[in-house]
Formats: sequence, structure tokens, C-alpha cells
Amino acid sequence: MLEKIDLLTEEIKQFSATTLEDVETFRVKYLGAKNGVITDLFKAFRDVPNDQKREFGQKLNELKKLAESAHSNLKEQIENAALDSGSDEDLTLPGYQSPLGSRHPISIVKNEIVSIFNKIGFSISEGPEIEDDWHNFTALNLPEEHPARDMQDTFFVQTNPDWMLRTHTSSVQVRHMERTEVPIRTISPGRVFRNEAISARAHCIFHQIEGLYIDENVSFADLKQTILYFVREFFGKESKIRLRPSYFPFTEPSAEVDVYWGLNSEADYRITKGTGWLEIMGCGMIDPNVLKNSGIDSEKYSGYAFGMGLERIAMLKYQIKDLRMFFENDVRFINQFKGSLK
Ligand code: PHE
Repeated sequence: MLEKIDLLTEEIKQFSATTLEDVETFRVKYLGAKNGVITDLFKAFRDVPNDQKREFGQKLNELKKLAESAHSNLKEQIENAALDSGSDEDLTLPGYQSPLGSRHPISIVKNEIVSIFNKIGFSISEGPEIEDDWHNFTALNLPEEHPARDMQDTFFVQTNPDWMLRTHTSSVQVRHMERTEVPIRTISPGRVFRNEAISARAHCIFHQIEGLYIDENVSFADLKQTILYFVREFFGKESKIRLRPSYFPFTEPSAEVDVYWGLNSEADYRITKGTGWLEIMGCGMIDPNVLKNSGIDSEKYSGYAFGMGLERIAMLKYQIKDLRMFFENDVRFINQFKGSLK
């Protein structure tokens, strides 16, 4: 009996198949429920002398496992070969269509702005969303107790009062200045946070792109020309801008940039408050203190910075009226940007 098992083991190892029928013959011969060789041996187990039962049982189980795995291997081999030769496949059948997603409008606008600035040599820099006080405020001329901190209230991390969710990507610019040699030309896109009540025009989360340029002899004229270039690339060649004096603790002088939107419809009157002009970003010459705080020689170098909110720009571009739509992920909204895979 034991020899029989050895013989079968060899036989199974040698077995080769070229068709699925051969595989089926194998199965019926060895593993078939009726008269399969191995099945029969299991039936014969009863008659094995007691002192051989243990060894016989063990060997028989091994034989069964071997036959089962040989069977599935043979089957797989032949099926794969069939796939390779394509014999069972009809390649003329139409494929399955999987629904194609689309980019979120914020990503579309971000990518467009990034590529406009890439063309004039700005690289991309990124940084953490959870920031420390130094990079988000203090290094930017906003020391503790500075009243301008009120405009950028945020969410603090309870276990460490030094940590907060960044209120702007200016924090990335500080990090970039700390680790990069001048000249610096970079833009920092990213998600930012402010503690504001959620409405059609404000949210506790939004996205920004901020820009930074530092070199010898950088002037306000360079800043204005760069912004004009950007606005014309983004809003059209005929676009006009105006700069209004403003205040930011980290720039001096500072300005707010408006784009001329026109007054052609009632809606234009509403969104521009009757002026025809729309505010799109803040900017200014970097305060020498900020350069010093980041280890840059403020006697030798000067620079400019600007920052804009992506939601605001996307709302203008796509005429979206409610900021909350960007965060709801309603497919009826998102699907309208199908085809925009830039
Ligand atoms: N960091 C400013 C804000 O978030 C924007 C800004 C950037 C203004 C750079 C001037 C210069 O409001």
C-alpha cells in the first residue's frame, strides 16, 4: 500500500497537460469522488493494519495535497497560455468604460497660476499646515500681542500653545528664506486656515498662492510689472490693474491689487460694488525686519511678496457665487469641470 502511494506521487509529478480536457482527466482520475485513485485509497484506509495506519494516513494526506495543487497549477498554466495566444478572447468587443473624474476648480486654477509663474522662473515651495508661532507670525513682524494678529485668528493645538494651523502660506516663505540662498524666486501654494464663521464669502479653510522674490536692487516697479504680467496671462491681454495703498505687517510699502472687471451688466455692478474694480491680492516690498529674521542681509538685498486667495480667483473665473460649494463635494457642482484635466 505504501509503495502504491510512492508510485502515485511520481506519476502525479510527471503528469503534463496540453488542454483543459487533459486537466479534467487528471482530476477525475486522481481526485474524482467516484473511483478517483486517491479517493479509493481513503476508502481503503479502514483495512490498513493498525500499526501502519499512522504513516499511511500521513502519506495519503500529502498525496492528496500534491494532487490538488498539481491540478490547480496545470489549470492555471493552460488558462494563461490561452490568454497569451488570445484564443478565447474577442479583442473586437468594446472595453468597459470607467467614469473619468475631473479636477477640482481650485486645482485647475492653482495649476494655471503655477504655470504662469513657472514661465518667469518661479519655483514651487511647500511647507507644513501645522505651523509654529515663529514662522506664521513672529518672523513676519507680527510679534505676540500685535494687534494685526486679530485679523488672522486661527486654530491652536491644545497640547502645545506654540502650534497652530497656518493662516497664510507666508510661513512657507519664511522657511524658504531660512534654507535657501539669495536670489530667491518662489511661489507657495497651499491650504490655510482662519477662525471665521462660514458663509457664502468666508470659510475656515481656503487656499492661497503667495509669491516671493529677493535679489539685489529689486524695486516696486518689478513687483508691479510681475503682477501685470500675471493678470494679463490669467484674465486676458487687455486687463488693467491698479494698486491701492494698504497695510501688512511684513511689507512696507504695501498695496492691494485690483483688476478692472468692467461695468457691463447688473452683476458687474454688484460684484464690484459699482466701481468696476475687483480686489485680487495683497502685495508689497518685504520689510527689512522680515529679511533679517530669516537670516538675509537687508542692506544688500531687497524683495517683494504678494499673496492671493484661490477661491476668490476661481469664483471670478467660473462665476461661482457661494464659497461653500468648493468644500461640499457635490458631484453636480464638480462634474461641471469635466474635461478640465490640466
Ligand atoms: N499673507 C497675506 C495674507 O494672507 C497676503 C500677502 C502676502 C500680503 C504677501 C502681502 C504680501 O493676507
